[in-house]
Amino acid sequence: MTAHESAPSVSVSGLSAEYRTRLGVTRALDDVSLDIAPGELVAVVGESGSGKTTISQAIGRMLPRSCRITAGEVRVLGRDLASLGPDEVRRVRRESLGFIPQDPIASLNPTMRIRRQLELALAPLGRPTDADSLVELLRSVRILEPERVLRLFPHEVSGGMAQRIAIALTIAREPSILIADEPTASLDAQVRDEILELIVAFVRRSGASLIWISHDLGAVRRWCDRVVVMHRGAIVESGPTARVLDAPEAKYTRTLVAAIPARPRASREGEERA
Ligand SMILES: Nc1ncnc2c1ncn2[C@@H]1O[C@H](COP(=O)(O)OP(=O)(O)O)[C@@H](O)[C@H]1O
Ligand SMILES: [Mg+2]
Repeated sequence: MTAHESAPSVSVSGLSAEYRTRLGVTRALDDVSLDIAPGELVAVVGESGSGKTTISQAIGRMLPRSCRITAGEVRVLGRDLASLGPDEVRRVRRESLGFIPQDPIASLNPTMRIRRQLELALAPLGRPTDADSLVELLRSVRILEPERVLRLFPHEVSGGMAQRIAIALTIAREPSILIADEPTASLDAQVRDEILELIVAFVRRSGASLIWISHDLGAVRRWCDRVVVMHRGAIVESGPTARVLDAPEAKYTRTLVAAIPARPRASREGEERA
């Protein structure tokens, strides 16, 4: 695959990080190194507390104040974010990185109708904000009654609808790196696949990289090129999806796969094994 031969869009090397709270110091990342190629779909899996959210926040330099990077670096499109000033970091984040939230309703402003939020988000990008364009945008994420939805407040929409809106806002910026931290964790099973399909369709169409934190090994098997397994802040295994899920090398991965059996998907089986 030629995309995987080009310079990485995200490069994490030797990254360690810790949280300092009243309760003490927690090491959240321990010497983590990870390169992600343009166009690559990478799943990050591991039990709760293994450092998945911390690594995704470190990539966007969006760590909470209590978290400190103690070693290593993160490069986004070749640039070391630690060497940039706050304005430049914001620009990289705005122009290149897209985050799909875990809790989509909380990511919206509760005091504003959906229409107003879309206008405020799109205007600075130079994107049209007339009613027809907004309706079109909502249709593109398969919202069925866009005219009605534009008039609603966030508490009046379902989680699945809010996630579609969050995805529309994120992909309108055409980020070259998309980070989704358990984007369907708060959603009903029946809308999960649709949300994932929207995310994957954008990534395939645009050639963006996807870093997708997930507990759903069946969906990971279906969509992702590579799986990175984290345990206690470290990467214990990383490799092509089928290899990691079918023939895990690390003991921890074997436990994880046994605990959450990955449903094989007939349509991708041949491709993955080819
Ligand atoms: N805000 C925080 N304050 C203190 N410790 C935290 C905070 N967020 C995460 N941690 C700790 O850091 C470690 C990694 O957490 P996290 O990155 O959230 O893991 P995951 O996303 O895989 O569940 C865990 O031990 C967790 O308890
Ligand atoms: Mg997390």
